[in-house]
Amino acid sequence: MAASLVGRGAQLAELRSRAAAAREGEGGLVLIRGEAGVGKTALARAAVAESGLWLLEARSTETPAPAYAPIAAVLRSAMRAGQADTENAVLRSALAAILPELGPRERPVEADQAIIHEAVATVLTEIASDRPLAILIDDLHWADAATLDALGFLAELLPRVPAIVIATYRTEGVPRAHPVRELRARLKRSGELFELTLEPLDGEATRDLLEMRLAGSVSPLLAAAVHERTEGLPFYVEELAASLVEGGSLRQGDAGYELDREASMPVPEAVREVILQRVDRLARGDRDGLAVAAVAAGAATDAVLASFGVEDLSRLTATGLLVELGDGGLAFSHSLVRDAVYEAIPWRRRRQLHAELAARLAGSAPPLTLATHCLAAGDETAACSWLVLAARASQQAGAHRDAVAQLS
Ligand SMILES: Nc1ncnc2c1ncn2[C@@H]1O[C@H](COP(=O)(O)OP(=O)(O)OP(=O)(O)O)[C@@H](O)[C@H]1O
Ligand SMILES: [Mg+2]
Repeated sequence: MAASLVGRGAQLAELRSRAAAAREGEGGLVLIRGEAGVGKTALARAAVAESGLWLLEARSTETPAPAYAPIAAVLRSAMRAGQADTENAVLRSALAAILPELGPRERPVEADQAIIHEAVATVLTEIASDRPLAILIDDLHWADAATLDALGFLAELLPRVPAIVIATYRTEGVPRAHPVRELRARLKRSGELFELTLEPLDGEATRDLLEMRLAGSVSPLLAAAVHERTEGLPFYVEELAASLVEGGSLRQGDAGYELDREASMPVPEAVREVILQRVDRLARGDRDGLAVAAVAAGAATDAVLASFGVEDLSRLTATGLLVELGDGGLAFSHSLVRDAVYEAIPWRRRRQLHAELAARLAGSAPPLTLATHCLAAGDETAACSWLVLAARASQQAGAHRDAVAQLS
């Protein structure tokens, strides 16, 4: 098993054999489903890392993005690596619908979805024939309908292509009519549905993860208490471990780490509380910085935070709650951390931050992002104008279902 992963031997073995088949030219689409924080991304990455396949990775985001965003991101990484050949004029013009930098397009209004699908499939198939490929598309529960349609199309070709596509999605809160469900149904009909469902870790794996994060053995009592509190959800185990260390709650006993006599195990309603306890230990200014980052979400950068007067990010990044992505981008260590911080911001402050961000990001962020900020700020008129622009962009990319959704 990958050294950094606990309790996922069976799933890794399944993915290993699918990756081996892909290398031999018999690829496929694999879905990994499970609740938030259960370890979908970690499993997918570990499987790709050990497969040695060339990884192209993209994700859908909670903050809305243009239609086909993850597919476009995958193609862009391939182009940056000099692997995607987009010299062919017809191909180029079809791809320009989702990669505007390849424009000018021959037919500027309305791209045909079937042509886009063919073009994407042609480019990816060519890349894979040179270099067997693993494409990881994370967080499909946030994907646009156009992306999921394209994946459904690709899935039917993959059995003849040396490429594996691994896509993850959250099971909770995915409504019945969600495009992920349509994709599943389509795959099922064509006999191409291969899906792994991740359950939380058992007691033993929870202890292993705890020991890995604390870099030492833990007493059976502490292991059992952590398993009980977290119900084996890896994300919670890690947050709880960090909180116990930061709160000075552990001591070295005969059987390994145990709870200090003075300390008590946090009794959170949910581990959301544990995250907030970690946030509460920060200085006021740092907490404000985190709040701005949580509201900005996908658009958070050091420049955005600096425009709110938060210049020094070192204390925030030292906690590990916020991570620098390079090129000025900032992200939370996990979207669940972002959610917890966001929901703890008082309602008025949240609206005010959304309004300020909508003003500051106008001109640089995509229309859909601006619409979201305007809506959350209570400015429905401005939100409507941005939504119309967003719908026009979707329509030009041939993403008609997304265009309709943006207008309704
Ligand atoms: N089997 C595991 N062994 C060790 N660490 C794990 C394991 N599974 C998950 N983790 C760690 O737990 C945290 C949460 O996992 P991950 O981000 O993969 O969850 P997820 O299911 O992708 O969540 P989300 O739905 O929010 O994207 C990560 O820091 C990850 O490294
Ligand atoms: Mg994930």
